[in-house]
Amino acid sequence: MELNDTITREALQPVETENAAPRKVFMKTYGCQMNVYDSQRMSDALSLEGYLPTEVIEDADLILINTCHIREKAAEKVYSQLGRLRKLKDERAARGRETLVGVAGCVAQAEGDEILRRAPVVDLVIGPQTYHRLPQVVRKARAGEKVVETEYAIEDKFEHLPSASRNATRSRGVTAFLTVQEGCDKFCTFCVVPYTRGSEVSRPVAKIVAEAEKLADAGVREVTLLGQNVNAWHGEGPDGSEWGLGKLLFRLAEIPGIARLRYTTSHPRDMDDALIEAHRDLDILMPYLHLPVQSGSDRILKAMNRKHTAADYLALVDRIRAAKPDIAMSGDFIVGFPGESDEDFEATMQLVRDVTYAQAFSFKYSPRPGTPGAEMGSHVDETVKDERLQRLQALLITQQRAFAASLVNKEMDLLIEKAGREAGQRVGRSPWLQPVIVDEKAGEIGDIVRVRITKAGPNSLFSEPV
Ligand code: SAH
Ligand code: SF4
Ligand code: F3S
Repeated sequence: MELNDTITREALQPVETENAAPRKVFMKTYGCQMNVYDSQRMSDALSLEGYLPTEVIEDADLILINTCHIREKAAEKVYSQLGRLRKLKDERAARGRETLVGVAGCVAQAEGDEILRRAPVVDLVIGPQTYHRLPQVVRKARAGEKVVETEYAIEDKFEHLPSASRNATRSRGVTAFLTVQEGCDKFCTFCVVPYTRGSEVSRPVAKIVAEAEKLADAGVREVTLLGQNVNAWHGEGPDGSEWGLGKLLFRLAEIPGIARLRYTTSHPRDMDDALIEAHRDLDILMPYLHLPVQSGSDRILKAMNRKHTAADYLALVDRIRAAKPDIAMSGDFIVGFPGESDEDFEATMQLVRDVTYAQAFSFKYSPRPGTPGAEMGSHVDETVKDERLQRLQALLITQQRAFAASLVNKEMDLLIEKAGREAGQRVGRSPWLQPVIVDEKAGEIGDIVRVRITKAGPNSLFSEPV
């Protein structure tokens, strides 16, 4: 592999000279955007330890799997992948190469040393709150120790992880994630996140602004603020007053170079007036909102501990749309939560019809060990869950297609993100997060160009420059 420009000269210095070639790390990331962000930060930290990123798993001296625990299959996929790594590790050992296997992320946090028992191929287990200790953990593992690091750290991991260097950021394209908040205190009864990510923590304004400036400096045009409950973010502003996400967005909008802002995932209960006003008044805040509701039945919402009703949610959507009429809504839904009757499910279908979503994610309820939902009686039959999921998804897809079709012949701004699959094409993003194909003559990567939509395909839009 060539030395790529993600590594600074400084970063290369700590490489030991015993091996002519620098060590390489292969990372595989599952789960939410926060894991994507964390993987990049871990990659930055490892580059300081002399590990260059590689896309070729057979070349990797360190294989790091950043895992998700949100639903059953996610964890099972990790275990079967770990099973397959045994052979790879043995083959490399036969060639005299040592391979470290690490598990990070939410499965690491939830399962801890159970992972070492179920998958002896693993050398290190590290939870999301301890990533700043990754360099020490890797050093210990290289010395032959099996390491499990899942204690909640008192110190803030973000303050100890190296911040993305200019070079490290440059190769990452024109859009970037920026974690502003982590963890959750809401304890929805189906969800593992409060257990795997710990309680709610907000990063300070100054750190967020500094990181966003660095990203802008590296050519990033669109920043998506991340948090498990991103709109619960709060912090002390430079004026000493308490800021919420709305105010933070206004501050970030002042950074030269940043042309688009987004945030995800928000909770209906934390959608305050200032944030809704930001949607009204801040042009660079994109007109797209991911606002999970999970169910349209008040009985189920109560059992889920969501602490809002379907009517609360609908009223909130009305207020948001009054402030920003062209906003597109996105959501998450769970079907087959314990006790969900046909009537409860119909209430979810009705809510979807009332809101109309541009995009949505829907899941069958998956009991998570240690959550209250898993202990509840009257679990819903798998076949009933399947049938409900199919009906819900059919409705959501119809809405998604109708939304895409409604954009045909309309003009919009496109942020050009990358080369298209076919020669002569580029792919950009609409304000509503859809991929849009355009001729490469329309502009360079990173440009924002005006286009007219000519056609809506199943997964992307087609356009011509105006
Ligand atoms: N913090 C976000 C969502 C985090 S998890 C929020 O509060 O909305 C992402 C989505 O996964 C959830 O919105 C939910 O729809 C789904 N999910 C979480 N736990 C689940 C479970 N046990 N079974 C099925 N889906 C689940
Ligand atoms: Fe999970 Fe609920 Fe917290 Fe979202 S708000 S992360 S669904 S517990
Ligand atoms: Fe999964 Fe953890 Fe994100 S459980 S969805 S990776 S917070």
